[in-house]
Amino acid sequence: MNSTAPRKPLFITLEGLDGCGKSSQIDTVVAFCESANPLGVIVTREPGGTEIGERIRHILLDHALIEARSELSLVFAARVQHLKTVIEPALSLGKTVVCDRYADATYAYQGYGRGLPLALIDSFMQALEVRAPDLTLLFDVPIEVALARRSGRPADRIESESREFFARVHAGYLARAQAQPGRIAVVAADRSLTEVSRAVEAVLQSAHA
Ligand code: TMP
Repeated sequence: MNSTAPRKPLFITLEGLDGCGKSSQIDTVVAFCESANPLGVIVTREPGGTEIGERIRHILLDHALIEARSELSLVFAARVQHLKTVIEPALSLGKTVVCDRYADATYAYQGYGRGLPLALIDSFMQALEVRAPDLTLLFDVPIEVALARRSGRPADRIESESREFFARVHAGYLARAQAQPGRIAVVAADRSLTEVSRAVEAVLQSAHA
């Protein structure tokens, strides 16, 4: 292979507000990636993806009050375990990793949402050697749509946050997409599942071209 050719995206993350519909698109992403990568695809999520990570997820989503910096530290504790034992081993075998949420969620939720300094998150990223994904699909819906899609379902601790919190998270995601357009593709998700799937396939197609 020509060494100057762009690398195919192997580490793909899905992001967006709670209720954006990203989880409904995982099958579309996996089907595309399976056809593009004969070495296989793994699907995982954050917080979670490992036994320790799933236990931390439980703490994070439980209703007990957590200091913002404790929340941030727990997110990264789960992430390191996930990276070292699941994501990096799979990537080193040449597999595609599809991860439902990852580091952009930390900037959006703990940074923009909670108001923690973005530089603090940068420091965690560097100190813990957290790699960036190759490609991120940001499923974008207006906040009202996200809130309406979630209504009637029991809300976890983070989903119970205010509309203002989600407005900051939303703005944070869009700011990151604007700053890193080569990595983060914004997919308008306020459409039918089929239309969103087509948009997802178009992004994946151009990223694999
Ligand atoms: P999920 O319901 O999409 O699996 O996400 C669980 C929640 O975790 C969601 O409300 C966003 C939150 N979260 C953070 O606050 N920071 C993070 O770094 C990650 C990965 C998720």
